[in-house]
Amino acid sequence: MENFPLNGVYEVGNELLDDQHKVILNYMAKVYTYLLADKKGDDLFGLINRLDTGCKLHFLDEEKFMEEMELPEIDEHKAQHALFVMHLENFMGRYEESEIVKNIDELVFLKAWFMEHIEVFDKRYAEFKKRFDEMVHESIQQAALRNSTTK
Ligand SMILES: [Fe+2]
Ligand SMILES: [Fe+2]
Repeated sequence: MENFPLNGVYEVGNELLDDQHKVILNYMAKVYTYLLADKKGDDLFGLINRLDTGCKLHFLDEEKFMEEMELPEIDEHKAQHALFVMHLENFMGRYEESEIVKNIDELVFLKAWFMEHIEVFDKRYAEFKKRFDEMVHESIQQAALRNSTTK
């Protein structure tokens, strides 16, 4: 599937969210093979439905994660998710009628959008969490040092 490479996906450092990114991209890759072969039927319908559900679940989990961290700019990030859901729903509403080239173009657009979203928006919470964990780690170390010098 050299026209639909999945390597080089940025890792956010959260197992659940990283796995979801991979699952979503794998669904997209499978849909791509169906579109290339011009196979429209129950299997493709099922795949696209799973892709849609996977994206929506992922966005909910990610938004919950960002809310727990009280991440700034969360509304902007949520708006990006809503925009993607809209693009995906448009694709779902049209792919049966549209011609193969148009469908492939749209899927490639969705994939590029998703990859770029991870690189730009998801990276922000990944770095925020990393800095937060480092600060917690440092303060634990400092407290341990204070304890050892006062004894
Ligand atoms: Fe994400
Ligand atoms: Fe996101």
